This record gives sequence, structure tokens and C-alpha cells, in this order.
Amino acid sequence: CDIMAPALFILLWAAVIPRADLLPDKKSLLLPPTNFTVQVIGLAQVLLRWEPNPDQEPKNVELGYHVRINGPQEEDYETRNTESKRVTVLHQGFSASVQTIPWNGHSLLASDWVSAELKAPPGSPGTSVVNLTCTTNTTLNNYDPLRPFQVSLYCTWLVGKDAPEDTHYSLYYRYGSSTEECQEYRKDTLKRNIACWFPRTFISSRGSDWLAVHANGSSKRATIKPFDQLFALHAIDRINPPVNVTAEIEGTCLSIQWEKPISAFPVHCFEYEVKIYNTRKNYFQTEKMTTNTFISIIDDISKYSIQVRAAVSSVCRQMGFWSEWSQPIYVGHDDQKLSTEWFLIVLMATICFLVLIFTLICKTGHLWTRLFPPVPAPKNSIKDIFVIVKNKAGEKQWAVCGR
Ligand SMILES: *[C@@H]1O[C@H](CO)[C@@H](O)[C@H](O)[C@H]1NC(C)=O
Ligand SMILES: *[C@@H]1O[C@H](CO)[C@@H](O)[C@H](O)[C@H]1NC(C)=O
Ligand SMILES: *[C@@H]1O[C@H](CO)[C@@H](O)[C@H](O)[C@H]1NC(C)=O
Ligand SMILES: *[C@@H]1O[C@H](CO)[C@@H](O)[C@H](O)[C@H]1NC(C)=O
Ligand SMILES: *[C@@H]1O[C@H](CO)[C@@H](O)[C@H](O)[C@H]1NC(C)=O
Repeated sequence: CDIMAPALFILLWAAVIPRADLLPDKKSLLLPPTNFTVQVIGLAQVLLRWEPNPDQEPKNVELGYHVRINGPQEEDYETRNTESKRVTVLHQGFSASVQTIPWNGHSLLASDWVSAELKAPPGSPGTSVVNLTCTTNTTLNNYDPLRPFQVSLYCTWLVGKDAPEDTHYSLYYRYGSSTEECQEYRKDTLKRNIACWFPRTFISSRGSDWLAVHANGSSKRATIKPFDQLFALHAIDRINPPVNVTAEIEGTCLSIQWEKPISAFPVHCFEYEVKIYNTRKNYFQTEKMTTNTFISIIDDISKYSIQVRAAVSSVCRQMGFWSEWSQPIYVGHDDQKLSTEWFLIVLMATICFLVLIFTLICKTGHLWTRLFPPVPAPKNSIKDIFVIVKNKAGEKQWAVCGR
């Protein structure tokens, strides 16, 4: 027992002293992750991967990672995973760093950074496409009852200012895990591709993923620099206008109805704008609403032109563009127009009447002189009349023949 006591004391001392020594040291003990790599796994898509440092002590501390994307666009986030997928343009290269951090509020200091990067793809400056813009729209799909709607994609661009005349651009898009190359290009006068049309795509009209578009090219005279661009679907989607717009006037009530546009979004996702144009007063009235009916009291007898347009409201996704206006439909009568029409009709009738009277007068006058020629004396009247009748018959004969 006498021997045990100092031994215990020494043990305790040994246990306590190094711990007191270690405490400040421990803060630098988090080790950076190992084997950090960046890998292109798709069009404008990379996978960042790393492993926990195998020498990390103590093993029981909960660890996380702080990831920093340095370019092309700065981004900072923390995660407990050891891999992370990013959607990003890659034509300027890509660079990221990661460090080990304590999770759950340990007072440990973060580790040093480790970095990895992708070099920008080669290419002469000024050869890549510029002003790339894309739009999508939705049409009915008559072929597949399980996918009643299909999304088309249309992209246009300008030829880079230093691209040789023989540049041949190719365009690709990726949505989710589907990538497709364009098959229908439009060309400029030098036969270079400057637009592309995908009548059917894998884009989901209600999806919220980024649409990635990649344009690269080839030429005998230069290396064509590729170009990537990301598009948010809500920002490029051209909604179809509402359909079956009808309007009627009953008394002083103008009621307008329509149906939702051809779209994969359900009825409750739309908002509308109705434009009522009073042709007589040359006055526009525009109303916003979320229902499919609009009733307005009118105090004015006039002709109205009515148009409706639609947008997917923020109930269902981020607000995008308004559709085109529907074809105008017309209701009501324009009184003023009506009276000018009447005036024209009356005028025409009067002119016709006058012409008729005039012709009649002329004809009567002619007949009069024929029937009662001024020269002959009254005693030969019977003979004369006979001659005239004969003459008249002869004249008639001539008239028929002369035709
Ligand atoms: C991680 O890197 C080490 C050497 O740095 C290597 O031995 C090991 O195989 C790598 N692990 C993986 C999964 O690549
Ligand atoms: C192309 O885009 C640039 C800016 O990005 C703009 O200044 C230029 O007007 C655009 N050109 C055309 C023809 O739209
Ligand atoms: C969709 O867009 C394309 C190209 O912009 C156009 O030709 C087509 O008519 C549009 N379809 C509808 C239904 O608007
Ligand atoms: C263009 O990009 C596509 C898709 O990434 C690739 O398959 C193709 O080889 C590239 N073409 C050129 C000329 O770089
Ligand atoms: C529009 O009206 C026509 C005929 O009135 C009808 O066949 C069609 O189904 C309507 N469209 C919609 C989207 O309801």
C-alpha cells in the first residue's frame, strides 16, 4: 500500500500535466482532408471529393468540412459529407479548397486548406460564341399519354469576333442526367451555325434544375474556345397564351372567360391579365387576377376588344415572363360606326334613287319625242304611227343584231 500511493500520484500527475500542456496545442490538431479531387461528371457539372485525414486524432471528435469555391463563382458552405456535386460553367476553369472543421461547436480550430483546380479548356480568345440566349416553350405531346406535354428549346448566339470563317459550332444541353446535341441548326451566310432548335427535350417544364448549355466548335485555323451558360427555367420559359377566350355583354355586364394555357402547370398556378379596349373612347383597362372569369360593369355602348395573357404565379415557381396576349376578340357595337354606316347606306340609296329618276326622265323624254314628233300634221297621224311602229321594230332588230 505504501508503494501504491506514490505510483498513483505519479500516474495522476502524468495524466494531468500533459493534458494541461496539450490544450493550446490541440487547436492545431485538426488535419486537412486528403486526396481532394475535382472531376467533371457532366456538362457544366463537377464532383468534389476528399477523404478524412487518416492521421486525425482523437478519432471520436465529430468532424465536418468547410468547402470554398474560389472560381468561376465564389461560394462557401459547410458539410459533413466527403463529396459534393456542383453545377457551374467550366470554360474559365474551376478551383476549390476544403478544410476540416469541428462539428457540433467544439472549440477546435479549423485545419489548413487543401485545394484542387481544373484548368480552363484551351482556345484562342474571341473564338467562342457570344450572346447566347435560350428560350423554352411547351406543346402538347400527342405520342406519349404518360408525358402529355413536351418542352422545346431554342437557342441563338453570335459568332465570336475572331472566329475563323470555317468555324463549326456545336451546341449541347444538359438537364438532370440527360445530355443531347443539337440536330437542327440555323446557319449564317458563311454556313456557320448561329441558332439551334430542339423540338423535343428532356427538360421538365415544372422542374427547378438548372439548364446547362455548352457550345464548342472546331476550325482548321484556330482552336475554338468552348462556352458554357446556365439558365434558370422560369427565366427563359415562354408561357403559351390562355385559350378559348370568350366574352359577352348582357345589359351592362361584360363577362369574359378563358381557359389556362397549354402547360404542365395545373390551373391554380396561373395568374392573368385582362386587357379591355374601348374602341369608341380609345381607352384601355387592364386587370390582374387569378380566376378564369372577369365581370365588368360597362356604362358605355361601344365595341370592346378583349385580350388575356398568363404567367405562372409565385405560388408554383419563381415569377417569370408574361405570355403573349391572346388573339383579340370583339364584343358590343360601336354606335358612332353604326351611324356612319347608316349614313353611307342612306347616301347610296339616295344616289341610286336620283340616278333612277334621271334615267327615267331621259327615257320618258326620248319616248315623248318619238311618240309625238313635232313636225307632222294631225291629219296623217294614223299612217305616221304605223311607220313609227315599223321603224321601232326595225331598230329593235338592229339592236339585237348589233350585239
Ligand atoms: C489517397 O492518397 C493516398 C496517398 O496520398 C493513396 O495511397 C490512397 O490510395 C488514396 N486513396 C484513394 C481512395 O485514392
Ligand atoms: C451582345 O452582348 C453584349 C453584352 O454582353 C452587348 O453589348 C451587345 O449589344 C450584344 N450584341 C447583340 C447584337 O445583341
Ligand atoms: C415554340 O417556340 C418555337 C421557336 O421559338 C416556335 O416555332 C413555336 O411556334 C413555339 N410554339 C408555341 C406553341 O408557341
Ligand atoms: C464538344 O463538347 C461535347 C460535349 O461535351 C464533346 O463531346 C465534344 O467532343 C466537344 N467537341 C469539341 C470539338 O471539343
Ligand atoms: C376550347 O374549346 C374547344 C371547342 O369549343 C374545345 O374542343 C377545347 O377542348 C377547348 N380547349 C380547352 C383547353 O379546353
